[in-house]
Amino acid sequence: MSGYTNFAVVGAGTLGNYIVQQLLKDKAAGTVKEVVVLSRQGSKSTVQGDAKVIQVDYSNDESIKHALTGVDVAISTISGTAVDVQVKIAVAAKEAGVKLFVPSEFGGVTVEGQTEGRFGAKANIQSQLKALGIPYAAFYTGLFADYIWSPFFDLDVTSGKVSVGGDGNKPITLTSRPDIARYVSYILTHLPAEQLKNRAFTIAGDNKTFSEIFKAYDEKTGKKLEVTYLSLSELDAKIAANPQNISFVLRKYWVTAAPFQGTDNHLYPDWNPSPAIDSLPVA
Ligand SMILES: NC(=O)c1ccc[n+]([C@@H]2O[C@H](COP(=O)([O-])OP(=O)(O)OC[C@H]3O[C@@H](n4cnc5c(N)ncnc54)[C@H](OP(=O)(O)O)[C@@H]3O)[C@@H](O)[C@H]2O)c1
Repeated sequence: MSGYTNFAVVGAGTLGNYIVQQLLKDKAAGTVKEVVVLSRQGSKSTVQGDAKVIQVDYSNDESIKHALTGVDVAISTISGTAVDVQVKIAVAAKEAGVKLFVPSEFGGVTVEGQTEGRFGAKANIQSQLKALGIPYAAFYTGLFADYIWSPFFDLDVTSGKVSVGGDGNKPITLTSRPDIARYVSYILTHLPAEQLKNRAFTIAGDNKTFSEIFKAYDEKTGKKLEVTYLSLSELDAKIAANPQNISFVLRKYWVTAAPFQGTDNHLYPDWNPSPAIDSLPVA
């Protein structure tokens, strides 16, 4: 056991809310004592359950420090558009005596020295954590298996029409948010603290190609999805026209990045993540 019992989730939204709910379950089961959620003043985010929500002004070190006092592990699930805010949070966390910082990763593997875009921002946070000397643990999960089926990625399967980059035959790693939350909470409470420091956990709920997933969806629903394929050069042109368009940046990444191989799934022997097909919405 890690001995960590007091947890803070920083910015509980699309993913963080699932982690909060899991930690609250673990609190009911007795493995977690306290769950606090840091949220901006005036935020419209809602957190269910009896987590203690603390309003924070991230421009004020004392405000962050106050919220993190008594916390063993700060799990940042702050928005991918706000990862830089974590620099100040990490400084305050160290001063508040937080023992482990989990940066907002939860996607592809961040490679040291990356400088471009969101991956560059995430790599920068890891460098800052190292420089600060606060122990940290990163979780790489692949795509959120229960989240990406939306018009934003042109993957709204309920509409009957989707589009993917490449020929759809490249395997990708997908893990659902409830499965990520179970894994993160288990690892942070069950591994010895020494095994959590300055390391990355790479997990894979499922490794499938889009073609395999669409075929399984056709079979499950009895409806045939109409799939359009975007070549790499078409994706490059979309990104060149608008480099901030994260939808196309990610869709290119899904075609070019390798799925996770040597995963850390085995560290949670009873994990049993759900197959990706189970996470697709049915109209
Ligand atoms: N693998 C995937 O498929 C996938 C998909 C989506 C996201 N991700 C990654 O998962 C992580 C969490 O993303 P998410 O989508 O869960 O985040 P999110 O829902 O967009 O945001 C999480 C919380 O961040 C806080 N926040 C937003 N803007 C902020 C700002 N400017 N300053 C301070 N706090 C701010 C908000 O909390 P309050 O309003 O309470 O302050 C918000 O609820 C990110 O690293 C993201 O890149 C991965």
